Amino acid sequence: DVVISLDRGDPKIYYTFWKNVDDKCKVTIKASDLMSYFADFDEGGVFYQLPEFSEAVHQVHRVVGNAVTEGRYIIGGTGSSQLFSVALCALASTVNVTPNNNMKKKQIPVVCAEPYYSCYEEALEEEKSEIYKWQGDANTFDEEGPYIEVVTTPNNPDGRLREPVVKKEGGMVICDLAYYWPQYTPITAPADYDVMLFTLSKATGHAGSRVGWAIVKDKEIALRMIKLMSLVTIGTCHEGQLRAAKILEFVANSYERLANGKLANGKLSNGNPEVMEQPLEKFFEFSHRMLAERWTRLRAAIKRCGAFNLPDYSPQYCKFMKKTSHPNPAYAWMELKTGEDAEKLMNELKIRTRAGPKFGVSSKYIRVSMLESDDTFNQFLERLSTLE
Ligand SMILES: Cc1ncc(COP(=O)(O)O)c(C=O)c1O
Repeated sequence: DVVISLDRGDPKIYYTFWKNVDDKCKVTIKASDLMSYFADFDEGGVFYQLPEFSEAVHQVHRVVGNAVTEGRYIIGGTGSSQLFSVALCALASTVNVTPNNNMKKKQIPVVCAEPYYSCYEEALEEEKSEIYKWQGDANTFDEEGPYIEVVTTPNNPDGRLREPVVKKEGGMVICDLAYYWPQYTPITAPADYDVMLFTLSKATGHAGSRVGWAIVKDKEIALRMIKLMSLVTIGTCHEGQLRAAKILEFVANSYERLANGKLANGKLSNGNPEVMEQPLEKFFEFSHRMLAERWTRLRAAIKRCGAFNLPDYSPQYCKFMKKTSHPNPAYAWMELKTGEDAEKLMNELKIRTRAGPKFGVSSKYIRVSMLESDDTFNQFLERLSTLE
């Protein structure tokens, strides 16, 4: 048996949906297109941002109702990973600047309640910034003064909904909403934090385009972030933005009704909406169904094999789906019932997973991606069945 990898959140699960609408979402880029560093100035003043990208981000959030965007700055990045560092830097530097604009170089603690997304710690430990430092679990953070808390909701790895836990004076929050989409969790209210991060990778599954966006309330923080984006990479790739705009607009249009009751899908060159044929099953229905089916099959397999516990999630009313729906997290957070090393057991079955210590907790836990291809997911269940 070959090793199968479920340790990364590579969103291959959505491939069949997009394959079926290949031609409808095609983007054509001519040799002379998008040559300048500068895109048209959009209303947020992000010099590298195509207006159609900003517009598609506003539209998809308006349709899904998962984030407040009115009056906020939309700042695109090369995946939300880049924006995470840029937001940290912008927030930490507001604290570090003295009245005469000299940098003080105080390392601002960055915390997140465990289990936390493994890449936060890995990225910060590797970066060794002079103005912020990784300080681990937010639950045990007990220092006075400024700090940054990262709130991931729904959480990676355990799928739980979260709020800030430290809540002290001088605290700044970055809210990572990579999974706040209807396929993963019921949408109960628009998220409304000072700095929010989203990514195309988990929203629609186009991880290779490397497109993420920040939604930022405060002008000073937004301007610092835009300046950093300009210094580090002189903005982001316009081809990626165009692709993201097309995909997001396609998803949003399939839900947004025109005044005449028809669904729009794109705009004609005269500015009027073009009515296009829609897929039989729209994106969020497809993705929700796929994940729900996998969760049902996984729970049955785990019950039969008896070696692991899985978290339970309560259903809630989803304002987007207009019905009560069950959370279907992007990862299975599995706890070994007896024994200490869940990863070792999985390695024996040639299943690669990510172990608890990377998320700040014990090796009894492993994180398994629910987003892999059908083939990999089926093999995973088959191999689990050998433990029965
Ligand atoms: C919580 C969370 N934030 C951010 C990211 C990174 O996303 P991107 O592909 O946009 O860099 C991931 C990817 O797995 C994630 O799980």
